[in-house]
Amino acid sequence: MRFRVRPTPRLAGAADVPGDKSVSHRAALLGALAEGTTEIHGYLEAEDCLRTITAVQALGAEVTRKGPGQYRIAGCGRHGLREPSNVIDCGNSGTSARLLVGVLAGQPFWTMLTGDESLRTRPMDRVAEPLRRMGAAVVGRAGGSKLPLAVKGTRPLRAITHDSPVASAQVKSAVLLAGLYADGPVSVSEPAPSRDHSERMLRQFGVQLVTDDRSVTLMPGDLRASAVSVPGDISSAAFVLVAASLIGDGGVTIRRVGVNPTRTGVLDVLQAMSANLRIDHLPAVGAAEPAADIAMSASELKGTSIGGALIPRLIDEIPVLAIAAARARGVTTIGDAAELRVKESDRIAALSRELAKMGVAVRERPDGLTIEGPQRFRGARVMSGGDHRVAMALAVAGLVADGETVIEDTACVATSFPQFAVMLNALAGTDAVTVEDA
Ligand code: S3P
Repeated sequence: MRFRVRPTPRLAGAADVPGDKSVSHRAALLGALAEGTTEIHGYLEAEDCLRTITAVQALGAEVTRKGPGQYRIAGCGRHGLREPSNVIDCGNSGTSARLLVGVLAGQPFWTMLTGDESLRTRPMDRVAEPLRRMGAAVVGRAGGSKLPLAVKGTRPLRAITHDSPVASAQVKSAVLLAGLYADGPVSVSEPAPSRDHSERMLRQFGVQLVTDDRSVTLMPGDLRASAVSVPGDISSAAFVLVAASLIGDGGVTIRRVGVNPTRTGVLDVLQAMSANLRIDHLPAVGAAEPAADIAMSASELKGTSIGGALIPRLIDEIPVLAIAAARARGVTTIGDAAELRVKESDRIAALSRELAKMGVAVRERPDGLTIEGPQRFRGARVMSGGDHRVAMALAVAGLVADGETVIEDTACVATSFPQFAVMLNALAGTDAVTVEDA
């Protein structure tokens, strides 16, 4: 599949982005582990989150799709999952794989996990190592550090304190999920706070947790089914918001976007870049996750510096922020972001390589990028490298480029934002992005 993108002078109107990917995965997993029936609204029906649904079904949970984004999960209870009869394929989804390994560490049976070509290159030792210390067997390729992996859990697991060397919500969540089966409180600390959706949802499901700004401690216990309302994904909204910040005519509002403070780094950076952004917080209706309507219209952007504790709050938005940075006046530096090299692709290398094809010079560093603007994008033929966020960031560049841009290998967009092209076209009022079979 490929995108053919034409420059568009106008982006205007209101839109709803699909449900938050991180929250959706967690709703399916916790629903499967809970006692009782969990009703989910706004579940992200994209490939990654559907992998997690298939996985919990393979582990014995009964899942009913009641309508678009509406799922009912009959929970198995904390001790009720059963051995799957086949390998679980996590596709492109790192969150499915890493969170599942955490759950499986507490199951007294063998499960095999695999993934697509990209996921099989991504590091799994960051979750396997603490889970082995808790008593689980995690074995596999490359010394047990890459998928395919086989996991055999045990009960109870040893309670540990894990000092994670990376700020990763996937690592934190895997250890906490395993902690549900531990013989005492389990603590995780990390160098900077990562997204806290697991902590919020575990609490909502009746699990006791104590948090401070550096660490979280979970007391093992049962989960009680709950209703989950998934807000729109700020990581998907970011593509549309950056496009709206660069395209002169109009103004775009994205409704009911999740604005959990551990995820809103992209809004802080766009504000620091002088973007014309308005955030209207929505009244909380007992929701564990806050939401807001976010409006954006074009303005002249200026360069900024992105690093430190901000990085985990916007790690998935860096590809599209690089596009904003190229159009902004002055220098933008992105540092402390070496994690970008082990995402769905090496995003630092991908951005500097593909933006160069569009005539935009980007300086690559081991842990980030330096971009001096404003520069003009030139329409070109570029490659996503099978990475959804690179594909969508390049499409945003194409919307403001001189001439037509062709982005190859865009089927990956369906992992997180299948409606991306349709939504942009509706806001553009024209076929700005056409989807072609490769
Ligand atoms: C996610 C955590 C982040 C993020 C990923 C989703 C999650 O990964 O990049 O898209 O849902 O926990 P890391 O935990 O590896 O930083």
